[in-house]
Amino acid sequence: MSFQNIIFEEKDGIATLYFNRPKALNALNEELLSELDQALDQVMESKTIRVLILTGSGDKAFVAGADISELSRMNPLQGKAFSAKGQRIFAKLEALPIPVIAAVNGYALGGGSETALACDFIYASEKAVFGLPEITLGLIPGFGGTQRLTRLVGTNRAKELIFTGQNIKAAQALEYGMVNKVVPHEELMEEVNKTAAMIASRGKASLRAAKQSIGQGIQTDLATGCLIEQDAFALTMASEDAKEGTTAFLEKRKASFTGELE
Ligand code: CAA
Repeated sequence: MSFQNIIFEEKDGIATLYFNRPKALNALNEELLSELDQALDQVMESKTIRVLILTGSGDKAFVAGADISELSRMNPLQGKAFSAKGQRIFAKLEALPIPVIAAVNGYALGGGSETALACDFIYASEKAVFGLPEITLGLIPGFGGTQRLTRLVGTNRAKELIFTGQNIKAAQALEYGMVNKVVPHEELMEEVNKTAAMIASRGKASLRAAKQSIGQGIQTDLATGCLIEQDAFALTMASEDAKEGTTAFLEKRKASFTGELE
């Protein structure tokens, strides 16, 4: 499938999706969102992709937000449809059965921060800048930012960031717990790929079970979350990878996980 606004590559079980609208700092317009939607379908159908990385092409931006020139022409109903479209696609991203890492290489503002927040975790370059500046446009975040940021950093910090619209640097995002790791700019992709390769070497079924258990459990109380974990734990036992992992341990050799999800 050929895309105009994203670049999609796959190597050794790791797919990398580059947001690629350099003239608009990779801002999310309708067309880019539709291509992201199609690329995520491709990831879901793939038998070979084990980890997905999202990053921005160029040296300056991950994603500078939703496309403001498109937003400026929308009436409220069109705005609602745009917000619903972004939210649906980010929900699809969040629910992918494989791990997704955001490699934030520059500006991640508005919809850019919201994209990264829908990934499983974020590594950032020292040049990364996060923020939800929609308030400075007379708007509010519309792709899940008021919800995911609040769940991740807490109500007070989310309110401060969203009410002021001020940007924060990578080091502060790390302190807030938004970002797992900050690395020198030139080392970002190497570092992300290293972690992606480690994850890709684990079993697909157990990765999916762990991701679902964490994702569903965090939405509920501890006791219900633990029940979700029990079922997910039991399901992994039916996988080829569980047979391989436990046998490899007992035979004192490295496990080789090749099991599929089905
Ligand atoms: N939408 C459309 N175009 C954008 C854009 C965006 N979000 N961000 C940057 N661009 C364009 C600029 O208009 C400019 O285009 P021209 O060269 O044609 O003038 C080009 O990208 C380069 O940008 P700047 O000249 O502004 O670059 P800079 O280095 O001076 O500033 C920046 C960089 C701080 C990221 C600045 O571009 C900026 O503040 N961008 C907007 C960030 C923003 O407000 N994002 C939130 C959008 S609303 C949203 O996301 C809603 C939602 O939740 C769904």
